[in-house]
Amino acid sequence: MARCDRLAAFSEDPDRLTRTYGTRELRLAQDEVAGWMAAAGMAVRRDAVGNLIGRWEGADPSAPALLLGSHLDSVPDAGRYDGPLGILVAIAAIENLNSEMDRPPFVVEVIAFADEEGSRFHTTFLGSRALAGTLTGADLHRVDAAGVSLREAISEFGGDPDNLLSCKRPDRARAYIEVHIEQGPVLEELDCPVAVVTEIAGQSRIAITVTGQANHAGTVPMHVRRDALAGAAEFVLAVERLAKQTPGLVATVGTIAVSPGASNVIPGLVSLSLDMRHANDETRARAVETARNSATAIAAARGLEHSWEMVLDAQAVSCEDELIEALSSAAVAEGINAARLTSGAGHDAIPMAAIAPVGMLFVRCEGGISHHPDERVTEADVQVAIDVLTRFIRDQMRSATA
Ligand code: HGY
Ligand code: MN
Ligand code: MN
Repeated sequence: MARCDRLAAFSEDPDRLTRTYGTRELRLAQDEVAGWMAAAGMAVRRDAVGNLIGRWEGADPSAPALLLGSHLDSVPDAGRYDGPLGILVAIAAIENLNSEMDRPPFVVEVIAFADEEGSRFHTTFLGSRALAGTLTGADLHRVDAAGVSLREAISEFGGDPDNLLSCKRPDRARAYIEVHIEQGPVLEELDCPVAVVTEIAGQSRIAITVTGQANHAGTVPMHVRRDALAGAAEFVLAVERLAKQTPGLVATVGTIAVSPGASNVIPGLVSLSLDMRHANDETRARAVETARNSATAIAAARGLEHSWEMVLDAQAVSCEDELIEALSSAAVAEGINAARLTSGAGHDAIPMAAIAPVGMLFVRCEGGISHHPDERVTEADVQVAIDVLTRFIRDQMRSATA
């Protein structure tokens, strides 16, 4: 818990927690985590995209590795547990285990992913996609709010944008296990400290622009205007209506920028983000198509132009049955009858499913609040998560040497 507080001090904003990809603050947080990894007996390195990786050398380096971890970056004005808790629980489990043995039977790695939220470049899972070998150069041209490209940011962060494929793990891992706060209210309702995740919803992230005609706010009659913001506003409400009418669908317009952005100028250009999620990929794809059609219809009716760019299309991922059972029985052995939940939030386990069977353990968080400074967990629940993960890893080692 003290380590989560320590990491929360590394923020690019003075009065709130924001730690995005490639920043000095992310580097400082990585240096802190690197110290804890080394103290836990791990060799530490950074890969070509800037992921921090701690490696506890196994007796048999050729045996498939057990991967643990979560992300170290945050959304703007974040809580201090979304991401870091998963990394620190993994390190704590290894601290427990390396007091019991010199070396594990297989390599165990803890990965602090350098970018999961995608807050700076609106591309998400940069770190885990690099490890999975699915991060191509296609995103390198994307620029942040200051016009810095992802390519430049990777270089400045000490990475190598022309060698991202070197991040790909050469072999399929034994498992990737991520501990993460639930970011929802169910565990509180069930009065249960932890849950085993069964599947993670797929997500579509889309970048949209609406182009009208900037003009004088005082002289142009209403019936001849081509107001980009009024059109965007109609679209936002259309998307909200669609999500409310579609069971299991959530849709969010989280960012909107208006230009030229003066109170006496009719908006000429609006750019906005659309985030749509559903546990079923076909339902999500249909909803995205419906949203796109409504954007086209609204633009046509208002004499506007619009662009639509699919920035991320992440398929839903099912956690491995064997890992669900193993995590559940580790919880039972710790006296906890863990709930089973699906995850509406995206996690690094989504891209990691390409190179390993994945499992996740959720930790109860107060009021289900997340992506907000009021994010809270209790020490007791974190202790349960550490104990369950430690036992899970010990069980994996036992079955590997049986
Ligand atoms: O947006 C998400 O689902 C996660 O917090 N990156
Ligand atoms: Mn997260
Ligand atoms: Mn998050």
